[in-house]
Amino acid sequence: MKKRIAIFASGSGSNAQKIMEHFKRSSEAEVVLILTNNPQAYVLQRADNFEVPSHIFTRHEFYQTDDVIKLLKNLQVDLIVLAGFLWLVPVPLLKAFPNRIINLHPALLPKYGGAGMYGDHVHKAILANKEEESGITIHFVNAEFDEGEIIHQSKFRIDPDDTLEMIKFKGQQLEHQHFPRVVENLLKKMKS
Ligand code: GAR
Repeated sequence: MKKRIAIFASGSGSNAQKIMEHFKRSSEAEVVLILTNNPQAYVLQRADNFEVPSHIFTRHEFYQTDDVIKLLKNLQVDLIVLAGFLWLVPVPLLKAFPNRIINLHPALLPKYGGAGMYGDHVHKAILANKEEESGITIHFVNAEFDEGEIIHQSKFRIDPDDTLEMIKFKGQQLEHQHFPRVVENLLKKMKS
């Protein structure tokens, strides 16, 4: 049986799309659901384009009910992928899927992680500190923002005249290149 992936995303969903593309013709795994807290998120359009079902949930549903856990269990999801998802994962969901929730972060953790460190906030801080390199991190999710065990990191160089857009672009290229492959490798290592 194919391994079953659910992706949580709050925004554009370019990484969710890369994962849907990667597994579209795979005999090993498939994306069975896209979940979002944001009814306006472009990721919903991307899910439609790939004919992947989607589910929009409210803050109440996510934090005060078991509805999302039940949905994921009913779909027999093997791996939950956070791809630009900005809410903290509640403990009951972590407990329901131990070591089966991973996140993508646009910096070299533990640097530039924690509450409020997402998207442009990360890249602006990196620019302000005149870092000479940055990168991406893929890690297991635990009850704290950006603190779980690291699975993969890759780096890029920051040139002195790089703009915010250039740093974002370099990071996004690495994310699109590595994230689907890291997901695939992780699924191969999972028993069932
Ligand atoms: C990605 O760059 C990801 O690293 C970042 O959100 C972006 C989502 O882009 N995640 C975080 O900042 C989490 N703290 P996308 O919607 O185009 O995939």
